[in-house]
This record gives sequence, structure tokens and C-alpha cells, in this order.
Amino acid sequence: MATFSSISKAVRFIRRNSNSVLTHLRCMSNVPENTVYGGPKPQNPSHRVTLTHLRQKHKKNEPITMVTAYDYPSAVHLDTAGIDICLVGDSASMVVHGYDTTLPITLDEMLVHCRAVARGAKRPLLVGDLPFGTYESSAQQAVDTAVRVLKEGGMDAIKLEGGAPSRITAAKAIVEAGIAVMGHVGLTPQAISVLGGFRPQGRNVDSAVKVVETAMALQEAGCFSVVLECVPAPVAAATTSALQIPTIGIGGGPFCSGQVLVYHDLLGMMQHPHHAKVTPKFCKQYAHVGDIINKALLEYKEEVTNGSFPSSAHSPYKIGATEIDAFVHQLQKSGLGDAASAAADAAQKIEVTKSQDVERQ
Ligand code: KIV
Repeated sequence: MATFSSISKAVRFIRRNSNSVLTHLRCMSNVPENTVYGGPKPQNPSHRVTLTHLRQKHKKNEPITMVTAYDYPSAVHLDTAGIDICLVGDSASMVVHGYDTTLPITLDEMLVHCRAVARGAKRPLLVGDLPFGTYESSAQQAVDTAVRVLKEGGMDAIKLEGGAPSRITAAKAIVEAGIAVMGHVGLTPQAISVLGGFRPQGRNVDSAVKVVETAMALQEAGCFSVVLECVPAPVAAATTSALQIPTIGIGGGPFCSGQVLVYHDLLGMMQHPHHAKVTPKFCKQYAHVGDIINKALLEYKEEVTNGSFPSSAHSPYKIGATEIDAFVHQLQKSGLGDAASAAADAAQKIEVTKSQDVERQ
């Protein structure tokens, strides 16, 4: 039985080390020690981006960076690059799930993406999109969905699209529930049914004024930022000027407080014909990762086919000669003669390759 003094010793130890214990637990899935596979270095969760940081950046006129991520690797890349905001966008529906629009993705699917991203990105502010069909019916439904995105998805904030009066009421209710909300105006892809497709907005007076007014209403509802998608640059500039909160542009030109792009679009993962189809015009490709992926896969296929992979350099797990002899003997004794010969032949081939390598050096 634990004595009083051993318990109080343990309590003192936990108190003294509580920060490092908690940090270790949180980052445990990232720690590669004693495992076969390597992994990224655990990030430092004490440097998280918060709304306060974003407000400070905005005040100093420093552009805010935002990129989408949908899984652990993309999240780690964003984190390592020092991106401010990581958006788990419902664009996952198109670039990850292969649908033609953002409408089909479900809340449960989004939550799987959110959790994976939360495990990988420790520093950026994490924003999760409310998917189509999970927040339009009532403010109560919107709050319930937003709560799940934070509780089950591990996000810091949510994003919702549009600015109809019911949407403003929903944004206000979510903020009142204690959840930070990012708005999204201009082209709102969840509304392609009424917009008549993926069409730029704000290209005539009424539509341009509507962009500004909707963004102002979202600000009034308590949103901490608004995405401006596919609007002419002067309309984005007017909106940015009219607001006290930062605007994040995507296809909105340079006069926004920050910019966002979809991960797959900016990396040029477009070799798949479907991706090529959905790459928007405003996107700059900063890499051609798709070409690199294709090349690597073709090379791998070729090397497996011609037997040059895995070479001895990629067959790291050794077994000693005595162990091999005993293993072969054991297999023979068990009536597995073919398996015994296979093991003995393999051991001999490895020895031959080894001596050839030594000769070559
Ligand atoms: O879902 C998404 O990726 C988005 C960005 C385009 C802003 O909403």
C-alpha cells in the first residue's frame, strides 16, 4: 500500500513537473524515440497563435498567413513553416475526397480531418469549417455543430459561410457560446446552387455593396475575421477599409489583411486530372509537387519490378550467422524444408552482395 509520504512525494513531483508532463502527453504521438519509424520533432505548444496575436499583427499591418490542411502531414508542414492560421476547410470535399463541390462532405468526415490536423499543428490557430447542412436550420443547430468542432475536432475556432440574416444570428449565437467565428463572403462555395456555379461576386454595384455590408454585419455579430473569396481587388480593399477586423483574401487581390490558399492548389498537386479541373484561376502554384510525386512513384515501381529495391542499404535488420544456422535447423526439424532452403539461400546471397560491396570500395 502507498504510504502517506510516498503519495505526497508523488504529488510534489507532479506539481513540480506538471508542465512538462502535460506537454509530453500532448505530443506523445509525435515522439519517435524507440520506434522503428522516425517522425517530426514535437512542436512547442506554448507558442500557439491566438486571436490576441492576430489582432496585434493586424494592428501593425503585418499580413496574416492562412493555408488549409486536412491531415497530419499537411498540418505538420504548416506548423513548421510558421503559418498563422490553419483552416480545415470543407474544400477537403473536393481536393481530398474527389467530389466536384464542397456540399457532400459530412460533419463526421470533417471531424476526422480536424482531429488529424490538431495532432500535427501545435502552433497555428486552428479553424474548422462548418460543413453544408449542419448549421443553416437554426442558431441552436449552428451552436451545437460549432461545439462539436471544438470538442471533438480539437479546433480553436470555426468558419461559416454567407451573410443572410439567419446566418448573422447564427454567428452571433456561436460567439455568445464562447466560440470564435470567422466569416466568409463573396463566392461562398456552399451556395453554388443559388449563385449558379463557382462565380466571382461583387462585380456590379449591388453585389459589391452587398459584399461590404455582409462583412460589416459579420463583424457586428462578433466575428474575429472575414474571408473574402473571388471578389475584385477594389471591393476587397473597400471591405478591408470598412472593417476593424482582418480580412483574409482568396482571389480577392492584394488589399486584404491576409491571404489564404488551398494546400493542394498552392503546392501544385495537380497531376491528377481531377485536381487540374478544380484548380482555381487565382491560385499561384509555388511548387509542382504533383510532378515530383509522379516521378517518385514511377521510379519506385521500376525499382521493385527490376529488383533493385530494396537493396542491402534498405534491408537494415540483421541476424547473426549462428542464429541463422539454428533457425534453418529448426525449420528443417519442423518439416519446413523449402522455407529452410529459402532462409539459407537468402543469407548466402546477402553475404555475396556484402563481399562484392567491399570489393567495389
Ligand atoms: O474550404 C476552404 O478551403 C475555404 C477556403 C477557400 C477559404 O473555405
